[in-house]
Amino acid sequence: MSKSDDLFKRREAIISKGVGYFTWGATAVSGEGAVIRDADSRELLDFASGIGVTSAGHCPEPVVKAIQAQAAELLHACIHVATYEPYVALCEKLAELFPHGDATKVFLTNTGAEAVENAIKIARQATKRPAIICFSEGFHGRTLLALSVTSKVGYKTHCGPFAPEIYRLPFPNQFKYGDGLSTEAFIKRELNRFRQALVNTVSPDQVAAVLIEPIQGEGGFVPAPAEYLQGLRKICDEYGILMILDEVQSGFGRAGKWAAYQYSDITPDLSTWAKAMGGGLPIAAVVGKAEVMDACAPGTLGGTYGGNPVSCTAALANIAYLEDQKLIERSAALGEVIQARFRSIQERCGLVADVRGFGAMQAMEFCHNRDPLRPAGEVVKEILTGCLDDGLLAISAGAHGNIIRTLPPLTISDEQLEQALSILEKRILQHASS
Ligand SMILES: Cc1ncc(COP(=O)(O)O)c(C=O)c1O
Repeated sequence: MSKSDDLFKRREAIISKGVGYFTWGATAVSGEGAVIRDADSRELLDFASGIGVTSAGHCPEPVVKAIQAQAAELLHACIHVATYEPYVALCEKLAELFPHGDATKVFLTNTGAEAVENAIKIARQATKRPAIICFSEGFHGRTLLALSVTSKVGYKTHCGPFAPEIYRLPFPNQFKYGDGLSTEAFIKRELNRFRQALVNTVSPDQVAAVLIEPIQGEGGFVPAPAEYLQGLRKICDEYGILMILDEVQSGFGRAGKWAAYQYSDITPDLSTWAKAMGGGLPIAAVVGKAEVMDACAPGTLGGTYGGNPVSCTAALANIAYLEDQKLIERSAALGEVIQARFRSIQERCGLVADVRGFGAMQAMEFCHNRDPLRPAGEVVKEILTGCLDDGLLAISAGAHGNIIRTLPPLTISDEQLEQALSILEKRILQHASS
């Protein structure tokens, strides 16, 4: 038995079944740049980045050194007990990168789910309203409030009752819900649907916030059209509803810009960040307009570990590395290559129904006869298992697991990218005649 199989068997014997996995047998021992070495010393090209985390590559030297130095200096203090420089410096940096209006404030957590939970708590305190409007296919994490705003029922089996005052509308996904309309007509209809919801579903004076991913992550890399987000911004301003943009998966260059909302030229009232911010250590943030962030009563935000000094130092070094190596620009360039290749594959494979994405966040949606109502999740599973055999670690997305998404380290070389795309192409084209 291979060491990977053995490790997987031990996993299955001791780790709860509730902790799912994408591909049986995928293991990791060490990582460098865009390569992971597995338990059998096999080199795998990484197209997952631990779900969009290791954007700066695995173990970039300046980040590892900063972590080592900070670990030797101060492992933990707790921001409620003693204020330390890395927490303050990271908040300052995030406010500089993502200004939310005239004055911006920041609060740090450990995970994306916690960031979303707290953004909702902040919005409720600032507006003194209870309701949240969220979207189909949205993913916001697995804590109970985050799960309540998450869409896919497969993540929620018997986990309820869920938090009340959550209202969900269809995400503006033209491929899925376009009904043959032009983009302009589709966006108009969806914005009208939103306005109708404020008449027929929940009164706007009860709505604290709208929560939306500018490009859906787990939902399958579906960008919200810029005109839709702009229209939503207008409606929010009209009714005093706060706009929360969840950038946990799309932020820090994943989508080819520091923030995916920059494609829409809008400013949110609150935004949530995690994953590629820390480059591997658990760290997340809520960024918001200062008057909104300060509407919270002291003691309502926080926790023992949020903004741990080692994680903050890692995030600061990681952000500096993304800047120095121009990895945001690299993400945009990678996206062009990947999307062109995906479109060429689409021409040759009748199962590839849609190709889309921003920056290095690119996706192919697989449907039988290219029919959005006939998702081909079983084909994607087979393709990705084949890719692992060929040395490429890639993952799916979507409620039916029928979407292949790319989340490579942004440090991936042109040669490595070509190698990864060739493996993927070969495995997909085996299904070309399906
Ligand atoms: C958009 C989005 N929000 C929130 C989360 C939850 O983050 P975490 O897994 O760190 O709790 C995720 C995780 O995939 C995500 O993609």
